[in-house]
Amino acid sequence: MLKAFVIDESLYDKDFVSKLNKKGILTAKVKVLDCKFSNSYLIAALSLNLDVSEVVALTSTKQGIKGARRAGFVTAVCLASSDKQELALLGADMVVSTCSDLLDFTDSSDFESFINKQILSFYYDTKVGVLIDNAKEAMNNAYAPYSNFHVGAALLTETGNIYRGCNVENASYGGTICAERGACMTAICAEGASKIKMLAITSHAEDPAPPCGLCRQFLSQFMEPTGQVYLYSTTSKVLKHYDFEDLMPYSFTEF
Ligand code: THU
Repeated sequence: MLKAFVIDESLYDKDFVSKLNKKGILTAKVKVLDCKFSNSYLIAALSLNLDVSEVVALTSTKQGIKGARRAGFVTAVCLASSDKQELALLGADMVVSTCSDLLDFTDSSDFESFINKQILSFYYDTKVGVLIDNAKEAMNNAYAPYSNFHVGAALLTETGNIYRGCNVENASYGGTICAERGACMTAICAEGASKIKMLAITSHAEDPAPPCGLCRQFLSQFMEPTGQVYLYSTTSKVLKHYDFEDLMPYSFTEF
């Protein structure tokens, strides 16, 4: 349950903070302490005695988005004029033009639903929502008579095109191809090895299914380390969001 904001020092306005506090939302200031910027967000959350899953990070810089995402926070951005698509590619989950736009909720009981609405509308203004819809549609074509586990994937390449994949199983079991590798093959077949910027994966798993180790290795050759990965459960509607490099550090690339 979301109950707090950790806020970049530059956005930590007294009036804004006191309005949040009055509505029952805790706040902490994020100071840039060292090069591991994500630590600053974690320290601020710790000072509130809260876990990252209970806190929204609020920043206005690219470095802040990076740090907050790497630490696993829902990442809100406050910028007067911004390219939403660019912010989504950097890993933002929502964007507002002024901090006062973040006060449009009654109290702590509707804070989470307010934030979730902001995230959904941001995702649908950017390619994220389209990708998830594409992955869901691809999932309908999964051929999974053995596991009955249907997976859909959709990826966005640097050219702005979207490619889909679904898992295709085989009686030999080992011949099975996962949805993610399927999408990757389709993309490369269509436009060569262009870089993958975003990837959405959908399944029925209550806890959204992450890509398997083999797919991570396979993708690592085409997906940018800073590429965004969205995992969605069509059952629980839970959505998880990662940087690719956090899912696949130290990939094998040379021999
Ligand atoms: N599967 C995927 O399509 N992607 C993954 O990353 C994990 C697993 C498929 C393969 C198989 O058809 C089924 O899920 C069960 O493993």
